[in-house]
Order: sequence, then structure tokens, then C-alpha cells
Amino acid sequence: MADDDLSPQDRAKRAVAYAAVERYVKPGMLLGLGTGSTMAWVVRAVADLVATGADIKGVPTSTRTRDQALELGVPLIGFDEFDQLDLVIDGADEVDHAGTMVKGGGAALLWERIVADSGTSFLCVADTSKLVDTLGAFPLPIEVVQFGWQATERAIRRFLVEQCYPEDVALVVRTTSSGEPLVTDSGNLIIDAHLQAIPDPFVLDRELVWIPGVVEHGLFSGICDRVLFADPDGAITVLETGDTPPARPSTTVRGRRQAAG
Ligand code: 5RP
Repeated sequence: MADDDLSPQDRAKRAVAYAAVERYVKPGMLLGLGTGSTMAWVVRAVADLVATGADIKGVPTSTRTRDQALELGVPLIGFDEFDQLDLVIDGADEVDHAGTMVKGGGAALLWERIVADSGTSFLCVADTSKLVDTLGAFPLPIEVVQFGWQATERAIRRFLVEQCYPEDVALVVRTTSSGEPLVTDSGNLIIDAHLQAIPDPFVLDRELVWIPGVVEHGLFSGICDRVLFADPDGAITVLETGDTPPARPSTTVRGRRQAAG
């Protein structure tokens, strides 16, 4: 795509995607493939590599990424065919200096978390606008089952108020462009919590999932090993974040490594 057709942010997304694949993707790798517009560029870059004969296989985190990968000829494998992925690459809506991310702007957070947990290493790709000092300006996506979702929403509010968020914190069921409730790839709803600022992401990451009806949420702490940023001119910076401990126990190779310090 010609540079003129892309916004500055999209130029940065393309730059970081191609840099990530060039630097970190090697022939023979099993890759977790995240979701979103940055990841769409990563999938293109991986497809370019596959077209040169590189033996790379991917596991998609959404039907959207699956469809794009298949269309571009990236071979996909199922969870019955591997134990650990060599590398998971995914985008973020926000990322702080510890590598804690808010994800789920593309409603793929549940599959993204499952795939992330199968990775020995996690690489976040982002344009520089995603780096923040404090998470939370981007609404936190919380995936909930449809059954009893109003009760789940009330429980989420009670929990947030206990955590000192305002009683009238906006919890908004995400809708499609036609105004219907958005249904995720797993058949669930997304409630976007407009928290404005999340002073303790570790507590929320750990505790929100205990609420009955909450399937998953978009706060990913202690998961990311490295963030690659690009600006619209293509300048790349790397943030190493692998020392941040996980908020939740993980039995994967990566989780055990982090727990051991
Ligand atoms: C999807 C995600 C995405 O990684 C996140 O929304 C970033 O998307 P984009 O690259 O389009 O800015 O978490 O659920």
C-alpha cells in the first residue's frame, strides 16, 4: 500500500510489524498470531516470509486473524498439534512501562489470553501512541457470558467501588456499528469499563476473573516479555519487560520462568 494512503499511525503500525517479523521470527517457529490492525500487518509480513519458503506455522487469536492468515497462505495449526508456541506476537490498546497492557479493543481478548498463555515468549507490537504512564484512559474490556449479564455487571460495579472507583463508573455493553450487542468469537458480550485511570492493574487483573460470569478481561500483566514501538517515520524502540511478575499463576514455561524470578 502506498505511503500516501496511510495515516501516520498506520505507517507506524506497518513499520513495527515488519520490524518485529524481521527481527524475531525465524524459520521453523510456531507463532501465536494476535488480532487488530497492527497484527494485520504482522500477518502480511509473516505471509511474505512463508512465500520465501520459510516453514512457519501460526495459531490465530480470532476468526478475523484466522481468515486473513488463510487468505494469505500462512499455515495454521490447532491446539492438538503443539504444546508451546515459540513466540506470541500481539498488539495492545495501551501499554505501560512495565509492559502491562490493556487489550481487547478488537474484542479478541479471550482467545488472545489463551494463546498468550501457550507462548514461551510474548512480543507486543505497538505504535508509540500506545505507551502510557498510567493505564485506563482506554476503556477496559471485560468479556462476560450472556446468561445473567446484568447481574455480572452489577457485581463488577460493586467490586470496582470496593476498589475505590466511583459508584457511577460507566460500564458500557459494546455494540456493533448497527447498534446490536457485539458477540465475541466465543459467543460472549463485552462490557467496557471506563475507569479513566488504573492505579493498580495487578489487583484488577487478579481479582476481576473471580466474579461469576466474567470470562476474561483485557488487563494483561506479567505476560509481555518485550514491546516493540514504532513512530510514523519508522524509528523503532524496544522496551524489555520480561522481569515484571505475573499477576496470576501460570503453569506454562514462561509463567514458571517468571515465577522463579
Ligand atoms: C484486539 C486487541 C488488539 O491488539 C488491540 O485492540 C490493538 O489493536 P490495533 O492494533 O488495531 O490498534 O487487543 O482484541
